[in-house]
Amino acid sequence: MDHFEIVDGELHAEQVPLSAIAREVGTPVYVYSRATLVRHAKVFREALSALPKVHIAFAVKSNPNLAVLRVLAREGYGADVVSEGEMNRALAAGIKPEDVVFSGVGKTRAELIAAVRAGIGQFNLESEEEGVELSEIAAALRTRATCTLRVNPDVDARTHAKISTGKAENKFGVAYDRASGIYARLSALPGLEMRGLAVHIGSQITDLEPSRQAFLKMGALMNALRVQGYTVSHMDLGGGLGVPYKAGDDLPTPADYGRMVSEVAQGWGVTLMFEPGRVITGNSGVLVTEVVRVKKGTGSPWVVVDAAMNDLARPAMYDAWHDFAAVRPGGETMTANIVGPICESSDTFALGREIDAVKAGDLAVFRTAGAYGATMANTYNSRPLVPEVMVDGERWAIVANRIEPATILAAEQVPDWLA
Ligand code: LLP
Repeated sequence: MDHFEIVDGELHAEQVPLSAIAREVGTPVYVYSRATLVRHAKVFREALSALPKVHIAFAVKSNPNLAVLRVLAREGYGADVVSEGEMNRALAAGIKPEDVVFSGVGKTRAELIAAVRAGIGQFNLESEEEGVELSEIAAALRTRATCTLRVNPDVDARTHAKISTGKAENKFGVAYDRASGIYARLSALPGLEMRGLAVHIGSQITDLEPSRQAFLKMGALMNALRVQGYTVSHMDLGGGLGVPYKAGDDLPTPADYGRMVSEVAQGWGVTLMFEPGRVITGNSGVLVTEVVRVKKGTGSPWVVVDAAMNDLARPAMYDAWHDFAAVRPGGETMTANIVGPICESSDTFALGREIDAVKAGDLAVFRTAGAYGATMANTYNSRPLVPEVMVDGERWAIVANRIEPATILAAEQVPDWLA
């Protein structure tokens, strides 16, 4: 459920017609609905309400916009961050340091130092080596860093290979059968307080069974560690719940997910931690674009839009589907290829798809673009960095400016020896 609907023949974000935003800000532009974000945050929390102790850390990587983070901070969400940059955003949005979880396989020494200094709540360690380094840093700063150990459960999440993270051949976490030895060694270090385990097997997961298998394995590991006398008071179950990208997609809901977790984690006696990203932000945003022209092809016509793979990389990177819809649909349809202006064939949003009939100058949207959309944008082909807008009822505001190629050009220089 989202708040992007046709009212009086035109697609609106809440009460704002998308053409009003496009007229003032230009296109392409991401538009987020605050009401949708709040709704998803509440639905996800509600789905976990049967569990005794829960901490939800929004996966900042899915949408790090400061205004988005502020909305989620107000919903009581913490943050899951994977860089110093994300950590600083979360803190700037008003999320308390103790509610921040620092994940990631390559946290640098400088990042570890910054995060210890900031007093962030939990480090999800991805290797023994990282734990040893963090212990030294924390001990030198006369403190102890609170940690979990991320374990790779060797479970196939049955999602796209590029966003699957829980198989033995993936770079994430420590191998399941080495985990208890590593946990024991890290628990003995002076700068660490080991309090639990973490797992995350992938993203856009559309079948709950692999997660269930992974969580069962984590439960068994937790029991084994407790038998050996180690503390396991926290279990971080990661993110990954998928969202419907195609009208009619039938996916497990947050409530289904919550029921599965309650069943598996029955009697664990831990604080359960979650790191949802896409399920909160995905359907909260659309990418508004204008049709540049419709070009005849040998097969279907090419609908060339002013958004491109630099603005929304998911179709090019993961063959992802984003529904395309006219902002003022006339009732007719056409079969078309939808492409951006970038000079490579991967700049393709859809091939041979039946869409609302559009012509040059029409506005349209790619739906479900709130997660891994603007955050993955770049300036390839010297295009501007795409702006972002947030709508709240009848009001709206630019929450990230368009960054013009001239601004980026101004950060470059030609050395003297090339003058
Ligand atoms: N926690 C960890 C440790 C993660 O690596 C991720 C996502 C999440 C939580 C949040 O997962 P979510 O709930 O959003 O599925 N760019 C790709 C997705 C990459 C996901 C990376 N990790 C895409 O556009 O599909």
